[in-house]
Amino acid sequence: MRNWTAGRRQAIRAMAGFVAGSPLFGWQQDPFRDHSRVPKLEELLTGLDFEPVAYAKLPRWAYDYTAYGEGSEFTLRRNRQAFDWVRLVPGAAGSGQEPQTATTILGTPAAFPILVSPTAAHMQLHPDGEPATYQGATAASQTPMIVSNVASVPFEKIAPAAKGPLWFQLYPRQDVESNRELLDRVQAAGARAVVVTVDQQASVYERALHDRNLEAASLRRLTGGTRGAPRNPYRVPEGRLWYEWKLFDQLRPMIKVPMVAKGILTPEDALLCLEHGVDAIYVSNHGGRSLDYGPSSLEVLPEIVDAVRGRVPVLFDSGVRRGSDVLKALALGASAVCLGRIPRWGLAAYGVPGVQKILEIVQTEFKQAMAATGRSTLASIDRSLVRTDFP
Ligand SMILES: Cc1cc2nc3c(=O)[nH]c(=O)nc-3n(C[C@H](O)[C@H](O)[C@H](O)COP(=O)(O)O)c2cc1C
Repeated sequence: MRNWTAGRRQAIRAMAGFVAGSPLFGWQQDPFRDHSRVPKLEELLTGLDFEPVAYAKLPRWAYDYTAYGEGSEFTLRRNRQAFDWVRLVPGAAGSGQEPQTATTILGTPAAFPILVSPTAAHMQLHPDGEPATYQGATAASQTPMIVSNVASVPFEKIAPAAKGPLWFQLYPRQDVESNRELLDRVQAAGARAVVVTVDQQASVYERALHDRNLEAASLRRLTGGTRGAPRNPYRVPEGRLWYEWKLFDQLRPMIKVPMVAKGILTPEDALLCLEHGVDAIYVSNHGGRSLDYGPSSLEVLPEIVDAVRGRVPVLFDSGVRRGSDVLKALALGASAVCLGRIPRWGLAAYGVPGVQKILEIVQTEFKQAMAATGRSTLASIDRSLVRTDFP
């Protein structure tokens, strides 16, 4: 009798284990509590859902490379917090129209006022690298992608991977003439605008330095990713300290397409950029990777927009995770908004379909936010849509 009971218990336990493990019952599991499986792409509902999946799939140093900010990461956190300091004014009665989101950014048509920010080294995230990001962005209503100067794959090899709009981002070299060949190449390969990044001059990423200490020397050589401290004793890299505003005058003749200044955080600098012939201002603190204890990009956006007075478009990034964030930045005067870490999480988590899905989520949320606030055109999105409580 005892034997029979024990056998029956064992059989029930085995059956329960089989049932629980069956893919038919997968829907009963909560992807964010149960770490025994990777959730299916369809289960991810917000952009933020992708980060834990990217974390689970990436080696620690590659996750950290995407995640970290400068210094103690105060500005990185402030970038997110700033969106909480902006309230949306509800629009009880809209125009009864479906929101219209199509626009043109510096001559590039876009279904939404949303672009992919330039970010380095996509092959750290997925073996297909930037061509995969480009395919995902193009599948998401032809979202324009800005290719980083330090992409894992050269611009000319990314360009044939899809048919969407591409821009190029330049980290200028000190010998100004030596930028010409690269600029010629990317413009010949179809770059429709050139973004010149002028921030991130003396940044130190403590997470990367810690990771470097934790890595075996062999892995350090292999990844090359977790860069060490600069050679000089004050941790100041020599690379970009020479920038002067006349740089834009010097680059102008080499750039036949629109030229954008990225990393602008004060009205004074924005005005100097205009004096030196840039076609757009890109308000950004490099996603908190430039100057810790600097302001969030969102806080300084309105004063820069006021100084620019509509003479050129103002692009914006740093901290955007949701469609409502896009709406808030547009309400504070941005002409378009760029996404840095969002497409990186999509690529790391699911490759091309992940990039497509995460961008489509933000696009959908943006449209919903427009509808919920009763704004059916981009032109109707203005400061009356928000109340700000910036400290
Ligand atoms: C991992 C990573 C790499 C980046 N690489 C570059 C780069 O090569 N060139 C550049 O201009 N900006 C670079 N950025 C900054 C982004 O263009 C963008 O300003 C920032 O990611 C926006 O903030 P978000 O990530 O909160 O959206 C990088 C950002 C991250 C997170």
